[in-house]
Formats: sequence, structure tokens, C-alpha cells
Amino acid sequence: MSTISCPRGAPSRGGLKGYLVRQFGAPEGLAGRLAGMVMRHRASNRRRNEWTVDLMRLAPGHRVLELGYGPGYALELVCARLTGGGRAFGIDRSEVMRAAAARANSGAVAEGRLRLFCGSVEWEALEREPALQGPFDRIYSVNVWPFWERPVQVFAALSGRLAPGGQVLTTVQPRFGAGSDATARQIAAQMQQAGLTGIRTETLPDIEPPAICVIGGSD
Ligand SMILES: C[S@@+](CC[C@H](N)C(=O)[O-])C[C@H]1O[C@@H](n2cnc3c(N)ncnc32)[C@H](O)[C@@H]1O
Repeated sequence: MSTISCPRGAPSRGGLKGYLVRQFGAPEGLAGRLAGMVMRHRASNRRRNEWTVDLMRLAPGHRVLELGYGPGYALELVCARLTGGGRAFGIDRSEVMRAAAARANSGAVAEGRLRLFCGSVEWEALEREPALQGPFDRIYSVNVWPFWERPVQVFAALSGRLAPGGQVLTTVQPRFGAGSDATARQIAAQMQQAGLTGIRTETLPDIEPPAICVIGGSD
């Protein structure tokens, strides 16, 4: 089962405006393709994706998983940096985004360096797909956490998929609801509840509101 919701904290709107806001959480059809273009080209979106990829400090041979890859901009950056047989994987619940990310990363997909899957990380898709069992050196998401209804369960599932020394990175630019600091505290508490360790927060102050990235590992 999958549910389509507005980001947590967003005013719930009906009508055309609500439909357009929901396209960022579950893009579909023409409106979803347009939302994907905004995600790809908006300066703040690009900046927080670039920053998150920098924070991962990728090393040769790393195996990386992105949750909610949208139009696939961060995966392009990851694939350009993966050396030494490194591999990238992605899962997004939107088929429209899977097609867009596959187009943007056609070279890496054709070479077998990137595999894209379609499904919700909250509703068994992670369990179903053998390639998504890990172990992964880095698991990251950018502005996807606000759509999760069961974040602690997601973090627990990710924790079990980390390689030794692996990290889960959760970036959010909270345009709605709680501010950046409160959002970071909430994510850190959920990660801790899920068994992740060594949790710390980084902040990207040069976009408004500031983006935060909460990073946790496994023992
Ligand atoms: C706001 S967009 C961000 C896309 C991309 N990370 C970026 O920063 O450009 C959120 C994305 O997460 C995906 N998504 C939301 N909830 C999801 C879930 N439970 N499982 C998988 N994908 C999800 C949506 O389909 C959408 O592509």
C-alpha cells in the first residue's frame, strides 16, 4: 500500500494548488513531469543536492543508495564520482521520475553502474528487491523525509543495510512546518530510535530556509 500526501507541515490544500504541491511528493502525469523540471533546475534544489553529495565523501568501490531520486540530479553527480567499480542504486515511488532519472543517467544505466527501481521505501519495496538488500556504504535522501509516514521504520530498515562504516544521510530544506533546527532534532531522534549511532547534523546556511543534513552510522 502507498499513500500520496503533502509534505509534513504543509498547509493541506485542495483544488489545483494542492494537486500541484502533491506533485513534489508523488509526481505523476504532465504535472509530475513539470514538478520534476522544477526539482532539477531550481537553484536551491541543485545546491542542496550538490552539498549532500559532497558530504558523502565517496571513495573508490562505494555502493550508494538514493531514496526518492526525483529527476536524478544527485545520482548524476554520484555516478560521475564513483570509481573503482562503485555502484549506485535508486528507488522512487514515481514512475514518471524513474523515466526522467533514467534519461538523465542513460550512460550509467547502460554501463550497469546505476540501477533504478520504482516503489515506496515505506511499503515493502525495499524488502522485495534483492539488489536493495545492501550492504551500502552510503544511503541518502534529499527532501524526501517530509513525505514519510513511518520514518523510524524506514531508518531501521536502512540501518540493517549499512556496510561497516556506512552512513545514512538525510537532507531536508524544511519549507513548511518546523524550522531547520527543530527538523534536525526530530530526524536525529528518529534515527536514534531506529538504532543508528554517531548521529550529527550539518547545516547549509546559504539557502533560505537553511538545509540540514542529519548523518547517522552503524556500529
Ligand atoms: C521533493 S522530491 C525530491 C526529489 C530529489 N531528491 C531532489 O532533491 O530533487 C521527493 C521525491 O521523493 C519521492 N518519494 C516520496 N515519498 C517516497 C517514498 N515513500 N518512497 C519512495 N519515493 C518517495 C517522490 O516520488 C519524489 O520524486
